Amino acid sequence: MTSSTELAVIVLAAGQGTRMRSRIPKILHAVGGRPLVGHVLDTAASLDPSRIVVVVRHERDLVAETVTELAPGVVIVDQDEIPGTGRAVEAALTALEGFVGDVLVLSGDVPLLESHTLTELIETHRSGGTAVTLLTARVDDPRGYGRVIRDDVDGVRRIVEQKDATAEEAAVTEINVGVYVFQATPLRDQLGRVGTANAQGEKYLTDVVALLREAELGVAASVTGDAAAALGVNDRIQLSEAGRTLNARTVRYWQREGVTVIDPATTWIDVTAVLAPDVTLLPNTHVRGATVIAAGATVGPDTSLVDCEVGEDATITRTDATLAVVEAGATVGPFAYLRANARVGVNGKVGTFVEVKNSSIGEGSKVPHLSYIGDTEIGRHVNLGAGAITANYDDITKHRTVIGDEVHSGSHNVFVAPVTIGDGAKTGAGAVIRKDVPAGALALSVAPQRNIEGWVEKNRPGTGAADVAARARGEQEARDGS
Ligand code: UD1
Ligand code: CA
Repeated sequence: MTSSTELAVIVLAAGQGTRMRSRIPKILHAVGGRPLVGHVLDTAASLDPSRIVVVVRHERDLVAETVTELAPGVVIVDQDEIPGTGRAVEAALTALEGFVGDVLVLSGDVPLLESHTLTELIETHRSGGTAVTLLTARVDDPRGYGRVIRDDVDGVRRIVEQKDATAEEAAVTEINVGVYVFQATPLRDQLGRVGTANAQGEKYLTDVVALLREAELGVAASVTGDAAAALGVNDRIQLSEAGRTLNARTVRYWQREGVTVIDPATTWIDVTAVLAPDVTLLPNTHVRGATVIAAGATVGPDTSLVDCEVGEDATITRTDATLAVVEAGATVGPFAYLRANARVGVNGKVGTFVEVKNSSIGEGSKVPHLSYIGDTEIGRHVNLGAGAITANYDDITKHRTVIGDEVHSGSHNVFVAPVTIGDGAKTGAGAVIRKDVPAGALALSVAPQRNIEGWVEKNRPGTGAADVAARARGEQEARDGS
């Protein structure tokens, strides 16, 4: 390879994205769990260029910080007050002084292009020897995009922006994707000649195409076969469309890897999630962030997992979980809420209407019904009765509850932390456990039950309750008497 085939990538990320009507810059809005510009940076990096330059201006610090986090090696360049994609590229070129290779220009708001599309574009460009090769797409609805105007022999003459187009030009359905490979030197030369005399008063990068053509330096265009992947995000409608397109791609990827997805349309998988073969995802399931799901696990329906770890053959049903670990063979839900640092051990169970936070539930242990478990350590083979509440907060600080192995608690217990329940201990129904329970003890805190015979007939005479009680007592006495 000669030095002339060295590759630099410029990512345009200085715009505001007015049509988003948002507090945050458009390119920081996310699809598939990653900012738009993050997808572009990933694709750029996959091409292994010698340099990546990102142009910033709107919300400069926020964008620069996010970009540096997502792609540590990139060069950040500031655009000045002159607006337009042409000005942005001009700014980027100041960081590429002396560079004579190929310059790939990508837009921070075109997130779904795949690397093979760009590799092919670069190959076309290099074999054609033209000053620019641009990526175009044929679409049904070209509104909002620059139109590609060709001459009689189908060569690209120029690109006209929607706002500058005549009715005839606007009817053209071949659009400029906003992705180009330029030879660095003619790009640099022609950019200097681009003005701002257009409907938007901007320095358009697209004007370079006509200038290169006039200078007879060669203009080529490559029509992409995957128009959906080439579409930019300008408003929230396109944001959701891009999200859906990306998700469909992600779902198909995991299906090919051996994951069963019953309903791709309602199953959302972030690009950062990792799934093993024989995972089953039921409808309306969201697998988000750094979630990892092991083989044989079944998740859903109606479940959201954010940054969770799910073990082999675990089952999670109608559950909301964030930063939780569900170990192999465990079952969670329906209607469970796992919060940060919840761990359900091997073959453990968290059942219906149970909330768990910053707690560890040991191997084979069960919290089956209607419970709140917070700041708690539960040993192995424990069974907590329905309605277990760990009262972890005394208005000032949080305290821990420690429950040993093989503990069985009665229904409707309150564990007032800090408190420790020894191995093998049992607690009675309705107990409020304020003191530690030694290993093997039975803890009772409820006074013995007292029945006051005839109370209703005496104190509520003439009521329905008194009538049926009197009848029941009469029948009982008759049976006892006979
Ligand atoms: C641009 C193209 C249009 C193409 C479309 C494809 C121009 C003049 N038009 O239009 O032909 O069909 O993309 O999506 O290039 N940006 C900067 N600095 C600026 C302005 C924009 O860095 O001063 C960045 C934006 O952050 C964005 C990208 O350039 O990432 C495109 O800008 P945008 O304003 O969305 O251009 P479009 O009107 O979509
Ligand atoms: Ca755009």
